[in-house]
Amino acid sequence: MPEEKIEDPKLQAERLRTEIERHNRLYYDEAAPEISDQDFDLLFRKLRDLEEKYPELATVDSPTQRVGGRPSQGFSQLRHALPMLSLDNLFAKDGLDGLRKFVASVARAAPGEPMEWLVEPKVDGVAISLRYEHGLLVSGATRGDGETGDDITQNLKTVRAIPLRLRSSASPSVLEVRGEVYMTSAGFARLRDEIRSAGHEPFANPRSAAAGSLKLLDSRVVARRPLEFIAFGLGEVRGKNDPPSTQKGILDWLKSLGQHTHRWTKICHSADEILAAIDELDAIRDGFGFETDGAVIKLNDVELRERVGNNARAPKWARAWKYAAQKATTRLRDITVQVGRTGVLTPVAELEPVFLRGSTIARATLHNEDEIQRKDIRIGDTVVIEKAGEVIPAVVGVVPEMRPAETRPFDFLSHLGGRCPACGSPVRRDPQFAVWVCENPQCPAQKTRRLEYFAKRGALDLDALGGIVADKLVERGLVEEPLDVFQLKLDTLSTLNLGTESEPRVFGQKNARKLLDAIERARQLPLARWLHALAIPDIGEETAHDLARFHESLDNVASSRLLQDVVALDRLRGQIEETNPRARRNRGIGELERQELAERHRKLAEEAREIGGRLIAEGFAERAKKKGAGDADAVVKVGPVAARAALKWFSSDRGREVLRRLGILGIHPQGGAPSKAEDAFAGKTFVLTGSLEKMTRPEAQELIRSRGGNVSGSVSRKTNYVVAGPGAGSKLADAKQHGVKVISEEQFLDFLDKKRSKG
Ligand code: IVH
Repeated sequence: MPEEKIEDPKLQAERLRTEIERHNRLYYDEAAPEISDQDFDLLFRKLRDLEEKYPELATVDSPTQRVGGRPSQGFSQLRHALPMLSLDNLFAKDGLDGLRKFVASVARAAPGEPMEWLVEPKVDGVAISLRYEHGLLVSGATRGDGETGDDITQNLKTVRAIPLRLRSSASPSVLEVRGEVYMTSAGFARLRDEIRSAGHEPFANPRSAAAGSLKLLDSRVVARRPLEFIAFGLGEVRGKNDPPSTQKGILDWLKSLGQHTHRWTKICHSADEILAAIDELDAIRDGFGFETDGAVIKLNDVELRERVGNNARAPKWARAWKYAAQKATTRLRDITVQVGRTGVLTPVAELEPVFLRGSTIARATLHNEDEIQRKDIRIGDTVVIEKAGEVIPAVVGVVPEMRPAETRPFDFLSHLGGRCPACGSPVRRDPQFAVWVCENPQCPAQKTRRLEYFAKRGALDLDALGGIVADKLVERGLVEEPLDVFQLKLDTLSTLNLGTESEPRVFGQKNARKLLDAIERARQLPLARWLHALAIPDIGEETAHDLARFHESLDNVASSRLLQDVVALDRLRGQIEETNPRARRNRGIGELERQELAERHRKLAEEAREIGGRLIAEGFAERAKKKGAGDADAVVKVGPVAARAALKWFSSDRGREVLRRLGILGIHPQGGAPSKAEDAFAGKTFVLTGSLEKMTRPEAQELIRSRGGNVSGSVSRKTNYVVAGPGAGSKLADAKQHGVKVISEEQFLDFLDKKRSKG
């Protein structure tokens, strides 16, 4: 009998890997699998067994890496090399006009350039960034606040559509791929059935299922979730060659590197062509097998994009187009009332469940009493509900022909019996906002909502504190105020009963420990996150970030000179208008009075100029762009409404109490005052030309932008510096022509360093 030839294990592992990769590709990219799922599993298990037997053969990019590793305690934070931007929206109702305005706004920023656009599907999932170094996937993160996100590398490695190694040998030394993790409709339906049959509450839609899956701490569970990935852009790229110069080129390049990209994209040259593409996409998108919540319109040329630039959160050269809302009709079974964080009572429609583009809807918002009256919505009615993008579904109207005989107009107050459904205290109508409110600050529902807000993403990120846990902590009297979470103990938390007296279900040691770890980490979170978490009226996430850049601590914000200046400037502007001797209101006054007025007017204007100038010098305001504008017209970073609200809150009893408690707890969140370097860059326009040697172009751009400067693609009178490397051509000549200062890369770096050490 001939002896069976034993294959070298190393060669065998390599052969298996190549084969598994090939089948992966056939399955995913070509939708033409050659073998059954069982045979695929067999190959896979062979490789895993082999790697277990010879651990030295395991590689970081082996397909076996995709089954997940040991559960982690929580996610650490990863800073994106380049910020992850979001998109501004255009809505179907804005129509062709909206598109034309957008196209014209871009044309103004880059006059005289022929413009090409790429329209792509907008897949409804979770934005992530993947980082490849020398072709290997080294990390992956969520968007987070755009600057830092959760490090979810282990979870992302389990997603089969994400290559662990880039396909081409000519891949750049660093490549950040931006894209979306999502769930197909079929995958979501399977998962929903699975979760339901295990007796749990399933996710509401594929997007939340994808988001919820990526947040799991056990990557072995993530590996079993039907997650997909599609790439649509780049972050940092470092390498010998520049990346392609158009969006279309980038997508083709990503595909050649083994990434999955959209099959449908369209190049357009005008608003009309864009609208036609959007309509075409709308007609076919239901056939994709995954949910799309719109189209994305991007300027195709990358250099032009740089010239057009970005806002704080989104590029000016792209828009998300939101398709018109999807509608369905169903029966309104009942109206319940939800108590919000500030005591506002919101009516909620309890519906006969209906399926509407990808998800089942059983509840929808009714906004407020006036809306119910205006639309004459009654319990028992057949109602029209609407789902638009990410917003919660809403009841938009009734079908009057289908109204049952015995209905009465809905009366909010009598429905409530005059009392808050959560705490029973009397309710009051707030005439300013046309809402009913529960004014009892001790109301348990309000306490729960405040706690949830404190714990949400972007605030303190205490994931485990959502929903039922927050409810029970408040109900059992363990948390009165959000800051009480810092006094929770392991034993009370682990025995917390999430069930009922008769059917107890405890939170458990493991969950309790995890939550306490997260709470401990929250102590170190930066000022921006804390300012957001404290739920100060009129201070949203963005304002919190702006404030944090200019203040070092909470105490600093509480007594902020900058904010006082903003308020004073606003008041002065009002007075300046009132005292304007030429204003109509001051027409009929006598000469002496007029002279007095003119004098006061002059003094006020001088004071405003002084304050405006100070705010500009501090970087907290910019000089207004309009012609003839002076320092008094400074455009502030944080407006007077937010400034007043912040100062008022910090000097209120509640604000002072929060500061006092934070001090006792030893929590001192830190913000970053901008350095001198930032000051020197702020508002300055740079043009980069020729090749850079110490850094890539995107890095240089990021350095400039992160310090508040602008980068432009062409030299004009407005340019402050041209950074010229070897091979610089026409832009150098332009610089000379406009008398713009030219510096070398070396000088640019010196400039950065010097400013930094002084700052
Ligand atoms: S581009 C700087 N392209 O939509 C450009 N985003 O509403 C940033 N999204 O955060 C994004 N499909 O998560 C882009 N083809 C596509 C997209 C897409 C889905 C998501 C992405 C982004 C969000 C903004």
